[in-house]
Amino acid sequence: MNVFADVSLRVSANSMAVCPVLSVQPTRAMVDEKFQIVVRNLPPKQEVTLHSLHRSEDKDYWEAFGYYISDENGTVTVVEDASRGGTYVGVEPMGLLWSLRPVPGSRHGLRLRKRDVLSPMVVNISVYKGHMTQGFSEKDALATVVTERWYLAPGVQRVEIGKRGVKGTLFIPPGPGPFPAVLDMWGGGGGLVEYRAALLASHGFVAMALQYLGADEEWTSDVETGYFETAYKVLQTHPQVCADRVAVLGLSFGTSVTLTLAAYSKVVQPRCCVCISGSHVHPVNKPLIEVLQVMMQNMTKARIDENNHVVWRDVILPIPTEPDLKVDVGRIKCPMLIVIGQDDQNWATVESTEDIEQMMERAGNRHLLTVLSYPDAGHLIEPPYTPHIRFSNFITQHNREKVLMLWGGQTKPHAHAQEDSWEKILLFLQKHLYQDLPPAAKL
Ligand SMILES: *[C@@H]1O[C@H](CO)[C@@H](O)[C@H](O)[C@H]1NC(C)=O
Ligand SMILES: *[C@@H]1O[C@H](CO)[C@@H](O)[C@H](O)[C@H]1NC(C)=O
Ligand SMILES: *[C@@H]1O[C@H](CO)[C@@H](O)[C@H](O)[C@H]1NC(C)=O
Repeated sequence: MNVFADVSLRVSANSMAVCPVLSVQPTRAMVDEKFQIVVRNLPPKQEVTLHSLHRSEDKDYWEAFGYYISDENGTVTVVEDASRGGTYVGVEPMGLLWSLRPVPGSRHGLRLRKRDVLSPMVVNISVYKGHMTQGFSEKDALATVVTERWYLAPGVQRVEIGKRGVKGTLFIPPGPGPFPAVLDMWGGGGGLVEYRAALLASHGFVAMALQYLGADEEWTSDVETGYFETAYKVLQTHPQVCADRVAVLGLSFGTSVTLTLAAYSKVVQPRCCVCISGSHVHPVNKPLIEVLQVMMQNMTKARIDENNHVVWRDVILPIPTEPDLKVDVGRIKCPMLIVIGQDDQNWATVESTEDIEQMMERAGNRHLLTVLSYPDAGHLIEPPYTPHIRFSNFITQHNREKVLMLWGGQTKPHAHAQEDSWEKILLFLQKHLYQDLPPAAKL
């Protein structure tokens, strides 16, 4: 009989006499990196709850939890064992992150977004005795590990851009470069959102997070195509950027901008582009502010559901046939990756993508298009393990109204879509931007 068996016998005879040991590896990681959680020294067949707790930059508490039962050796191994209940079920190594949600009694309509990418997202992982649903803060955990989740890898530089009226932030990977680059644009929420660009730079691309719509109380900036072309030039001519290896990536309304530039601009000629949860349907050849105004004429098609959530998905339906109401995607000459969620309640991205495919088929450039379409995923397809947000507070650009916007998606399939699409986005960018690059410049 070996000594370990002896120990477990003693533990079961005297429940919890030996301290359980909680291990989370790595405790300091990139946000898109998996961790491994193991609890040892529990009594055999002991019910425990694994719990994650995060205090956001807005001072809201977010939590997730899963129910486990230790094996005959008193061990729980999260990469192998199934959660039998809680905020996620099944074998889900990262469920404690992607199923994070505001603790009961929190403000309504929250969305978790990192503003300061120079500090990590701190998540406490704890193990509690028994299967608990609430009252975590009043009970003592058996053990807690503080973990850090970073958007910015060591050595990545963050540089604010003040050049030629461009509002944005540049992230530069460590090393001499020059590197391929990505121009990164978010959607109609506006403001300067840096975390995805920080993560792209952590994967070897110079990335520019570009602000093009006002945030919060500001009115929409009066930006035109020239603004994006200037931003692109600032990025392309940066000494650490390979001028002929620049991609454009946009989410939601950022996709409208990306497609417009790729189809019509003489200045922005990206090597490839990535379009997440967006559409080609919007008036073309107009300044952004007019585009938004024309689109808002059809806001009567917006709905409010039984939960008082605003649903925009019908606003651009049926997909117009008028050529001046959609980007002529047949003109696009670079490889393009489209990522959509089939339960997108905010924008008709599924119908738009079908129309884009048909237009490209007719124009003879369909071979440039790759589509990733995810069942039961919503509009906000973010980097991996970002908590799924089905609806959240949103301030509309056209009339600065605060609404609860329905984004859609079911938590588990949405989390899968985020993990799978991010990996494929990175592979797509690596393939098209790093291809045939002299080895010295590669990471
Ligand atoms: C996480 O744990 C640390 C160390 O025990 C503690 O100081 C901190 O307040 C905890 N964070 C939260 C959000 O409870
Ligand atoms: C328990 O530990 C023994 C001895 O190390 C090992 O052979 C057995 O596979 C373990 N059981 C489980 C369920 O991991
Ligand atoms: C608005 O809706 C009408 C009717 O469906 C459609 O003909 C028109 O193209 C839409 N306009 C815009 C800007 O989407």
